[in-house]
Amino acid sequence: MLKKVSVKRLKVGLHIHLKDIPWFKHSFFRSNFKIKKSQEIDEVQGIGCEYVYYDPQRSDCEPLQVDAKVKPVSKTVNRRDIKKKKSSELRKRKDAYINTEKKFLSSAKQANRIMRGVLNGQISFCEEAQEMAHEFASFFLKDIHTTLNLINLSASDDEALYFHSLNVSILSCMLGREVGINDSDMHTLAFGALMHDIGKAKIPKKILYKPSVLTKPELEMVKRHPLYGVGLLSGMKSVNKDVMKIIYHHHVRNGPSGYPEGISFKSIGLLPKIVAIVDLYDNLINHRVVEKVLTPHQALANLYKSNAKLLDEKILAHFIRMLGVYPPGSLCELDSGEIAMVVSIGDNPLLPDVIIYDQNIPKNEAMILRLGADIDSKVERIVSRKDLTEDQLQYLSPKSKIGYYVDSKSN
Ligand SMILES: [Fe+2]
Repeated sequence: MLKKVSVKRLKVGLHIHLKDIPWFKHSFFRSNFKIKKSQEIDEVQGIGCEYVYYDPQRSDCEPLQVDAKVKPVSKTVNRRDIKKKKSSELRKRKDAYINTEKKFLSSAKQANRIMRGVLNGQISFCEEAQEMAHEFASFFLKDIHTTLNLINLSASDDEALYFHSLNVSILSCMLGREVGINDSDMHTLAFGALMHDIGKAKIPKKILYKPSVLTKPELEMVKRHPLYGVGLLSGMKSVNKDVMKIIYHHHVRNGPSGYPEGISFKSIGLLPKIVAIVDLYDNLINHRVVEKVLTPHQALANLYKSNAKLLDEKILAHFIRMLGVYPPGSLCELDSGEIAMVVSIGDNPLLPDVIIYDQNIPKNEAMILRLGADIDSKVERIVSRKDLTEDQLQYLSPKSKIGYYVDSKSN
């Protein structure tokens, strides 16, 4: 339970809450935190309030027994001005993020339109799809870390296939770059990954999106999608055989669980192996059944523990390294006890950029803060969706991320 404390009795180690003070009236980027420096005490006292609250359970000590002498507030330094300046820097960071997100959403729409054209057998759309795959691969590769978080955006049933295709294409290119493939393979990979599940368009939606376990004949039908995909593109001259191999081989595994049957894992190329890993990963973090959605961190652990032997282990190791210790989209608890979501990885993978859940800061005003730089905190542990309250999920969840930016635009 929170206790009231005079600002004259603050001490390093107290976990304080500025809950009665509007967030724009103080210089901090969050409304509750553990005091780590005496300078922070000066700043709290400089706000002009008589008391704040502290959380005895999250504090390392008790408040001072007697009032300390309060330093006069420096007239030359207006803390709120500093915050304003810093806010505008942070706003630019968020704007850059929003721009990449817009590009991602428009690419998803374009992918949707083009793939519908391909399904109708229009060859011109197939050429457009190749061009598009190359164009977005180079765009998103420039800003790999922001893009990684966009992979968590949710889609409706109708859009799911296109979002999934776009996610797999972008992530495959990133992994391809990590593995060191050449430009020509990169083009093949971008296009092949975009088209890898196109054969699913031939499977009735009621089977594809069935929430319960599939019957044996239904499963057999789903397993035919690589073959259907190859069939759909086979009349199109511009589609080369390596693209076809990605489509046909992306479910081949190092064991009997893969399909189509009778293809040895050793005989397939590097590109389908890349797509296989990314495809599995995207299905885990964007599972259609919300309760089964894994955080990026959990999904990587799952790939490593349950699927490593079935996939190319060397490529999987590259993938895990690429996504980092706290992959974007991970939910975590900071050492301050606050709940946050990783939005991107900076130079230090242990100190990522995060959005912090803070009831006193409106969601649309929540900034992207770099741990260790903007705030003196680090990740304590990764948490899962079920550890969060509904409120926290609403505020942070990647699934409501679009809401963030729509909100922030309207303000
Ligand atoms: Fe597939």
